[in-house]
Amino acid sequence: MRRTAEPEGDDPAPLWWQRAVFYQIYVRSFADSDGDGVGDLEGIRSRLGYLELLGVDALWLTPFFRSPMADHGYDVSDPRAVDPLFGDLAAFDRLVAEAHGHGIKVTIDVVPNHTSDEHPWFRAALLAPPNSRERSRYVFRDGRGPDGSVPPNNWPSVFGGPAWTRVHDGQWYLHLFSPRQPDLNWDNSEVRADLVETLRFWLDRGVDGFRVDVADGMAKPQGLPDMPEYLLSIDRSATHSPADPRFDADEVHEIHRLIRKVADEYPGSMAVGEIWVETDEQFARYVRPDELHLGFNFTLTTTDFDADAVRRAIDHSLEAVSRSPSPATWTLSNHDVDRHVTRYGGGSQGLRRARAMALVQLGLPGVVYLYNGEELGLPNVSLPDWALQDPLWERTGHTDRGRDGSRVPLPWEGSSVPFGFSAGKPWLPVPEEWAGLTVETQLEDPESMLSLYRHALELRKTHAGFGGTELEWYGAPPGCFAYRRKGGGLICALNTSGGPVPLPPGEVLLASGPLDGTDLPPETAVWLV
Ligand code: NOJ
Repeated sequence: MRRTAEPEGDDPAPLWWQRAVFYQIYVRSFADSDGDGVGDLEGIRSRLGYLELLGVDALWLTPFFRSPMADHGYDVSDPRAVDPLFGDLAAFDRLVAEAHGHGIKVTIDVVPNHTSDEHPWFRAALLAPPNSRERSRYVFRDGRGPDGSVPPNNWPSVFGGPAWTRVHDGQWYLHLFSPRQPDLNWDNSEVRADLVETLRFWLDRGVDGFRVDVADGMAKPQGLPDMPEYLLSIDRSATHSPADPRFDADEVHEIHRLIRKVADEYPGSMAVGEIWVETDEQFARYVRPDELHLGFNFTLTTTDFDADAVRRAIDHSLEAVSRSPSPATWTLSNHDVDRHVTRYGGGSQGLRRARAMALVQLGLPGVVYLYNGEELGLPNVSLPDWALQDPLWERTGHTDRGRDGSRVPLPWEGSSVPFGFSAGKPWLPVPEEWAGLTVETQLEDPESMLSLYRHALELRKTHAGFGGTELEWYGAPPGCFAYRRKGGGLICALNTSGGPVPLPPGEVLLASGPLDGTDLPPETAVWLV
């Protein structure tokens, strides 16, 4: 079994982020303070009491920087300014100060792979000639073919269509995402210096860390080689194979060392990277001691509700960090994937399974990232065509409905839409059926998903059973598993088989659903000591 560098015995206390529960706030959808239908920083500040009650340790705020919002803020035109849609710097400072007052850390996104096409650098690049200093901050190339009308290579964009767009003088620029998100050239020293300035800017304002967007994508391989033909037909979610030249170039690790150096100037700060790689070996390289503090491991977001598959995913996530000082991270949902209630089948079955997986993830050693609304058991929403805003919908010629369904604003209180999210019209329609899922309703119901999360988070923080960093597996009936925290003794058993199985011995701390005498019912997990 693994042993992380998390201190035990006489070692100093673990750093705050080494076993934290982070809560991802998709800023547009959390809480709107000014009635324009879009969530904002003041909205978050007004809900800090809720976040403290829920029991999370830290926030991750998705981008709130100046942006034309072509990808809802992941297209940044000024990384050191707050977009007026979300507030201003004074609102940000108030939020950080008050969150700290509630004992909650604040981490924010940085987007170093690309800028917006409205960033002053890109505007200048379009006006400047080929081979100019202005163009060298991005990835401009001549096209192929006699008249240069064929893109420089065959790379597709993650959002559909080619990863290249041609400009007025015939050159092409690279964009791994939408044409409104031109990729930066990380060989350029101005690009590196600008990220350092951005990191220091926010650290000086008191943030506790960063989530690094597209952390496996910033560096591009020399010569920009074509992608192997067989990969071109693969669905967007499966394309981060080691053979995909768009991601995971060796040089990306130099950028992580640069980020780490800046973080080291601010003791206690941290960075977590968005790493969509296929193998544990690829992943491990990002969490070497002088690179990222944490890496998002997304294996649980692509794993079915099946005990063997979940156990394999857990083992892989632990293995990927086993030779690193970095603890494992666990995440079931985020703003880029379908919500797990829906992935697990939706309806009451999806909810039962999501409750069970909440205990599985919160019982594990390491760091947990919750996605806003999972504590309410929100499902994905099937939105009508007219409501869709994700650039994926247009870029794929209306074949991929995109990610809006997992980004619908949160229901807070009351009985009519949008349930206290906004005094105006929410940017995405909130379903009437969410009346029963509001925070207000669930706070009063001891059987609600919210009550389960609150209880689980409290136990995770206070009960000695959650000590230590190592895990061992017990024998379990087919379709089930049981792991035990070696340091603390907590046992977590999961039943994904079709029928009841005997409960493991021990005193029940918490169960995801009603227990049946001495049996663990199907689609249920339990914590025991
Ligand atoms: C990953 C972010 O999570 C996603 O929402 C965004 O569209 C892409 N990176 C591009 O920045």
